[in-house]
Amino acid sequence: MERKFELIAPCHFGLEAVLKKEVTDLGYEISLVEDGKVTFWGDEAAICRANVFLRTAERVLIKVGSFPATTFEELFQGTKALPWEEFIPEDGKFWVAKATSIKSKLFSPSDIQSIMKKAMVERLKEKYGITWFAESGNSYPLRVFIHKDIVTVGLDTTGVSLHKRGYRTLTSKAPITETLASALILLTPWRKDRILVDPFCGSGTFPIEAAMMAANIAPGMNRSFLAEDWGNVIPRKCWYEAGDEAGDLVDDSVEVDIQGYDIDGDVVRSARANAQAAGVDHLIHFQQRPVSELSHPKKYGFLITNPPYGERIEEKKNLPELYRQLGERFAALDSWSAYVITAYGDTEKYMGRKADKNRKIYNGMMKTYFYQFLGPKPPKRKQGE
Ligand SMILES: C[S@@+](CC[C@H](N)C(=O)[O-])C[C@H]1O[C@@H](n2cnc3c(N)ncnc32)[C@H](O)[C@@H]1O
Repeated sequence: MERKFELIAPCHFGLEAVLKKEVTDLGYEISLVEDGKVTFWGDEAAICRANVFLRTAERVLIKVGSFPATTFEELFQGTKALPWEEFIPEDGKFWVAKATSIKSKLFSPSDIQSIMKKAMVERLKEKYGITWFAESGNSYPLRVFIHKDIVTVGLDTTGVSLHKRGYRTLTSKAPITETLASALILLTPWRKDRILVDPFCGSGTFPIEAAMMAANIAPGMNRSFLAEDWGNVIPRKCWYEAGDEAGDLVDDSVEVDIQGYDIDGDVVRSARANAQAAGVDHLIHFQQRPVSELSHPKKYGFLITNPPYGERIEEKKNLPELYRQLGERFAALDSWSAYVITAYGDTEKYMGRKADKNRKIYNGMMKTYFYQFLGPKPPKRKQGE
């Protein structure tokens, strides 16, 4: 019988609307959008499809339940009241992998973890009629969010975070996560028939994510997920079906103009290797080139990029000149748009132009800005052109 689940997909703070659209486009009904989380309804197939297809989610959790708790006793009783036996088999290995607490009385992760584990053991002891759990079977890690004294509990179906697509074996010094790169591309009006250039491509994340979108390659096609082993919750055939669906959708012959440049030759080589692993090396032109030599003969392209910002890789003193060069080369491009994510506060000053839009985005703990310099739209093509 088909089960209905409420599924929680955590994402980057501030980019919930992008994930919400992805979930809706995948065909599922949203039940809640909160800071850093989108919750939606789905069946077993939805768990597999969400893991395989969502580009901007960090993981997919099955919501086991939520309840108020301001004391450890309430946490214990609330946890014990949840139907753990519907998910965790007698030999399952279960633990609270991560607990976060915001504006709540309960906040000590280690106490939350140990109390919830005890409560789950108590519940399962009664349900299975045993007193000791070998925990020799499959893993069922939990993620717990406490917000304003409401505890929400999710079982992690993903395992290794979804930003790990499996293609990026080589990284530059400060790579952007694949999920963030994807979300930023989806925030722009870039589509596969438009030019995309990343002049500071590093390990190639922006060009590779864009090429995967253009070729309709699902981000999770070439990796595995923890819940593939949970035959008690998700029939194996649902995973096969999601994989087949993803395979059928791939369009390798798409024509695109996507380019990645970087001043560092080793970095460019690693970008190429990553693109090959992602199956999109034939769609991207990578080249060693400093931003001072950036050019493109065509109109209406997009720069989407993550330049050095002075924290980890470049001396701060080089940044004014670097951003000046970026601004100058951008200005020389005919009718282009530029989208720049950086923690460098003087970006507009040195690029020589005020951004049309700006958005604060947290990249991990680091506050960054997504500066958007908008170019004109290309004229609408007449029919038959
Ligand atoms: C923050 S990293 C980009 C990371 C990339 N988005 C990724 O995911 O791997 C900035 C990159 O700019 C490159 N870079 C530094 N100065 C440059 C210049 N003058 N022209 C072009 N690239 C430059 C560095 O080699 C580095 O790979």
